Amino acid sequence: MQKIVIVGGNRLTGRVKIAGAKNATLPVMAATILAPGISVITNVPRLRDVITMKLMLETLGAKVAFEQGVLTLDTTDCGPHEAPYDLVRTMRASVYVLGPLLARFRRARVSLPGGCAWGPRPVDLHIKAMEALGARVSIDHGYIVAEADELKGANLHFDVSSVGATGNAMMAACLAKGKTVISNAACEPEIDALARFLNKMGARISGMGTQVVEIEGVESLRPAESAVIPDRIEAGTFMAAAAITKGTVRIANCNPAHLSSVISKLSEAGAQIMQDGSELVVSAAARPGAVNVTTAPYPGFPTDMQAQMMALACTAQGTSLFVENIYSDRFTHVPELRRMNADITVEGNVATVNGLDRLSGAQVMATDLRASAALILAGLVAEGMTEVSRIYHIDRGYEAIEKKLSQLGAEIWREED
Ligand code: EPZ
Repeated sequence: MQKIVIVGGNRLTGRVKIAGAKNATLPVMAATILAPGISVITNVPRLRDVITMKLMLETLGAKVAFEQGVLTLDTTDCGPHEAPYDLVRTMRASVYVLGPLLARFRRARVSLPGGCAWGPRPVDLHIKAMEALGARVSIDHGYIVAEADELKGANLHFDVSSVGATGNAMMAACLAKGKTVISNAACEPEIDALARFLNKMGARISGMGTQVVEIEGVESLRPAESAVIPDRIEAGTFMAAAAITKGTVRIANCNPAHLSSVISKLSEAGAQIMQDGSELVVSAAARPGAVNVTTAPYPGFPTDMQAQMMALACTAQGTSLFVENIYSDRFTHVPELRRMNADITVEGNVATVNGLDRLSGAQVMATDLRASAALILAGLVAEGMTEVSRIYHIDRGYEAIEKKLSQLGAEIWREED
């Protein structure tokens, strides 16, 4: 296993290029199953999760090439094979193949995802959507088994806004007979991008990016090309890195329109943020001010930025409150931050952070993707050396994060643990 080592104290300065969004890449890769032929996806980040989804599609019969940020996917020979447990358990997003397999082959056998570091992550809304579209769904030895004579358009309402379930329902509805209306649909940019890719394949989707999405079913779809949108969470992470180190960083290749809640919160914490086309310049001259963060579905403050924002709050002047509304107990970064002398108490889904003017470097352990990023951010300003172990978590969602931070002036490197 590898670890990332950081010696804290350097201000970050310079320019960082944001990669394509992991959470936009994965559903579009799954969507290529819907149409036999060769689709091409560009601006693809080199991440472990992309490799896992590539393996998943190959297991289902696709031929997938991934070079220089370009995915070429030939799904001609895809079959309704099984999405196996050993792949699905490593990446929950594998469940995105459920809708496309059901839509194209009228049957699917997909392993239930395991839990994750922060509680169970059910797929009941995915299953409910498939059933509403006419599928018979059962659970057999840990697998979702779905079959349908035909899929028929339906009115779907999600009690909880779900990115994954909205994506799966949209993909299945594209080839259903008649019209599907999804209400309380997820508005995340990654789902908006998925809908636009599906329309390029010949789907007839409207209302994407809003809470009511309409899909007119079509007979068939065709392969298409797509460029992945910038990763708003990677961008937000580097914005927080600029703020926590009191540096000045130009964030290139991002989409500021996807970052309004993060821009607003970091500005509230005292950072100066200037937009320059598709770039943001983030600078901070003093210790951040305390802020209150409440996570919510897009365009609310993203849960995937909660841990990173908490690292910033650990060094703020004053007390910050964090309310995590998307997941139960997504606070596994708290015990690790406490090892760095952070002053945090947790009550249910609320964390109270008393900011300190100094954190201390320590050996800490990554527990999930965004918690790892938070520990690295804390290490950038902690006094002395911080070692973050189990960084395979961070490689799932950040392309060479230590190289990008080192180019911005951080004293950071990767070594065998
Ligand atoms: C997506 O996960 C993202 N992953 C997550 O990012 C992100 O945290 C999450 O959306 C919320 O924004 C990808 O896009 C690959 P949900 P997803 O369905 O689709 C509950 C990262 O760091 N729920 O929107 O799995 C669920 O338990 C990852 O990149 C059900 O109850 O999330 C959660 O409380 C981490 N039943 C809430 O809904 C269901 O069937 C939101 O989950 C599905 C979800």
